[in-house]
This record gives sequence, structure tokens and C-alpha cells, in this order.
Amino acid sequence: MIIDILRKQDIRVRAYYDDNTTAELDGIRCAGPMPSGVISSCEIVILWLRFICAIGDNKLRREIVENMELNRMGIEWITAIHPRAILPTGPKEIGGGSVICAGAIIQPGATIGKHTIINSGAIIEHDCQIGDFCHIGPGTVICGGVKVGDQTFIGAGSTVKNGITIGSHILIGMGSNVVKDIIESGVTAFGNPCRIRSGQVPPTHTLAVP
Ligand SMILES: CC(C)(COP(=O)(O)OP(=O)(O)OC[C@H]1O[C@@H](n2cnc3c(N)ncnc32)[C@H](O)[C@@H]1OP(=O)(O)O)[C@@H](O)C(=O)NCCC(=O)NCCS
Repeated sequence: MIIDILRKQDIRVRAYYDDNTTAELDGIRCAGPMPSGVISSCEIVILWLRFICAIGDNKLRREIVENMELNRMGIEWITAIHPRAILPTGPKEIGGGSVICAGAIIQPGATIGKHTIINSGAIIEHDCQIGDFCHIGPGTVICGGVKVGDQTFIGAGSTVKNGITIGSHILIGMGSNVVKDIIESGVTAFGNPCRIRSGQVPPTHTLAVP
């Protein structure tokens, strides 16, 4: 999905990194497992390499990005924006490494953090603040002025009432109607109305990867 968006942005994808080094993805070679100092800053400058972390799970994506030697070298992260996403005035309010999928709508005054995924058809209304390493599921509607912390997942087809605050490291299950603040970190909440159902966020493999 992200390769498709990058190609639509006329960005040439040279290679990708994966622990499964024998795999080939859409004709693109695997350059091996995650690099640790394999690519020098010199190569980055000469080849003008830029990077994106294409992992759907927030926790894993954050761990990989923050532990990457490349990140500490101050590399440039690509912001992948599908040409059929609708943005107010351009991508300036969207952090590096974020992915805005087809059909997503981001209204004026909204800001999106770094390495955050706004999935297909999600609507981020005016003046929302979405944090870093979040994932807003397909078809979710975040009404105006909502604040979402870092590393929070909001499942597919959910609705969040205007002005609500959702904290960090929270999982909101698919199809939820969030009508009150959910602040407590590390919880799973779902339902209509959305309530905290568990003091944990389930293991990463339960969430889809774009
Ligand atoms: C919340 C969620 C993570 C829970 O997953 P889980 O821990 O495997 O939970 P289970 O499927 O075992 O369900 C446990 C119970 O909660 C209920 N439940 C689970 N998710 C629910 C939801 N989103 N809304 C309402 N009820 C839900 C189940 O019906 C079940 O009820 P029961 O005990 O009465 O039978 C998962 O259901 C979910 O919503 N994932 C997000 C999916 C998504 O948005 N994907 C898009 C990726 S791009």
C-alpha cells in the first residue's frame, strides 16, 4: 500500500528492509534486515536517500524508528500522501514519516504528528491534533477539535465526538463511538458508548499492517 502511494508521488523506491531477506515486494528487492550503520551518511547524501517505516502497528513502528541508527543521523523521512487524499492547504501540518491513505480527508487547522497513519477514508475534522505514531483506522470520523496523544490506535469505522481528548498508548476498538475523554494510558476501549474494557493493549499481531 505504501509503495503504491510513493509511486503515485513519483518517488522511486530503491529497496526495502525486512528480516525476511528472501522476499520480493512488487518487484522491489529486499536490501536485508534493518540497517545498523550499514548505510553511511555519505551514501545518504550522494544517493539522496529518504526513508519511511511501513509498519502498521504503532508500538513496533515507534520502536523501529527510535532505535534506528539512521534516525539518530537525522535522515529525512518521507511523508506518503495519496493523491486522492484531501488536505486543506498542503502537507505542511503533517509530520515526517506519516502516511495519508486514499480517500482520507484532513480539514483546516488539523495537525498530524510524525509517523502517524491516517488510513483509507478516515476524516480528521477541523482543529484536531493527532499525535506521533498513531493509527487512525479506515473510515473513522474524528470530529472537530479532538486531541489524540501519541501511539494511539483508533479502530476502523469509529466516531469520536468533537472536543474529546484521547490519551496516549490507547487502543479504541473498531466501530466505537467515543463520547467521553479516555485519558488513561495503555488501555483498550470499545463499544457504543466507548468504555474501557481492559487495562492492556493486545499484542501487536492483532492489528493489520498496511
Ligand atoms: C478491540 C479488539 C482489539 C479486541 O480484540 P480481541 O482482544 O481479540 O477481542 P475478542 O475478539 O476476543 O473479543 C472479546 C469480546 O469483546 C467483543 N468485542 C471485541 N471488539 C469489539 C468491538 N470493537 N466492539 C464491540 N465489541 C467488541 C467481542 O464481541 C467479544 O465479546 P464476548 O466476550 O461477549 O464474546 C478488536 O476487536 C478490534 O476492534 N480491533 C481493531 C480492528 C481494526 O480496526 N482493524 C483495522 C486495521 S487497519
